[in-house]
Amino acid sequence: MENRAQILMRKMVANVYLPHAVKIKEIKDETADIKTFTLYFKEEELRNKFTFRPGQFVLVSVFNCGEAPFSISSSPEVAGEFQLSIKKAGLLTGEIDRCKEGDEICVRGPYGNGFPLEQLYGKNLLFVGGGIGLAPLRSLIQYVFAKKSDFGTITILYGARTPEDIVFKEDLDNWSRENDAEVLITVDKGSPEWKGNTGPVTHLWEKMEISPLNTKVVICGPPAMIPYVVFDLLKMDFTEEDIISTLERNMKCGVGKCGHCTLGSKFACIDGPVFTYKEMKEIPFLI
Ligand code: FES
Repeated sequence: MENRAQILMRKMVANVYLPHAVKIKEIKDETADIKTFTLYFKEEELRNKFTFRPGQFVLVSVFNCGEAPFSISSSPEVAGEFQLSIKKAGLLTGEIDRCKEGDEICVRGPYGNGFPLEQLYGKNLLFVGGGIGLAPLRSLIQYVFAKKSDFGTITILYGARTPEDIVFKEDLDNWSRENDAEVLITVDKGSPEWKGNTGPVTHLWEKMEISPLNTKVVICGPPAMIPYVVFDLLKMDFTEEDIISTLERNMKCGVGKCGHCTLGSKFACIDGPVFTYKEMKEIPFLI
C-alpha cells in the first residue's frame, strides 16, 4: 500500500504545471555567453523515469525570475541526466548563468512532439544548424551516432556569427571523425586566425556531397535563416515532406492550454515544435 509520501509524489508527477528541482552536475562554457548545463532530478524516482525524444523541450524556472522553454541538447541515450545549452540574454537566463555546479534550478516537461525518428531510420541525414540552433540538433545527432547502423550517411552544416560564437566545438570535431559523416562549418565574419569558410550556411551547399535521394533534412537556426535554406533545398529537389525544422515560439504553459504559442490552427507546444516544411507552409505568415 502507498504511504503518504508516495501518494504525494504520484500527484506531483501527475501535475504537468509543477516544476521539479534539478541539480546542476556540470557546467561547460560553449562561448562567452552560452553554457551547457548537465542536470539531474533530485528526486530519484523522477530521475529514473525521465525520458524524452530529441527535439523535445523543457520549461526551466528560477524563483523570482520566471520560466522559459529550452530544447534539450543531449541524447536520450544517456540515462539519469540531460543537458540544456543556454544563452545569457535576460533576467532568467542571467540568473541561470550565475549558477554554479551543485546549485538547483527547477524543470518541468518534457514537452512537444520531438523529431520524427520513425521517418529518419534508414535515411541519409543532412543537418543544417545556425547559432544556438545546433542545440536541439545535437540531441538528435548524438542519438543518431549512438545508433549509427540504423541510419545512412550524416552531413552536418553549421553556421555561426564569428569563430568565437561556434558552439559544441568538441562535438563538431568528434563528429567530423566519424565514418560516413561530413561536417562543414562557416562563419559570417572571420578573424585573422580563421582559416575556414566564411559566409552564410547556404554557401556550404557546393562543398557537400549529398543527393536528395533517400535523404531527410533537419534544420534549426535563427528564423531569418530558415526560408533561405528551404528555398535552396527545394531547388535541389528535396521534397517538402523531407525538410523538417524545429520552431521556437513563445511557449508558456507547454501543454496546449494558454494559447501563447499559436501557429494558425496549431500549437507549437503540442503539435510542434517540430514540423515538416509541408506543414509549415500551411501555417499563415510563417514562412
Ligand atoms: S505554450 Fe501554452 S498553448 Fe502552447
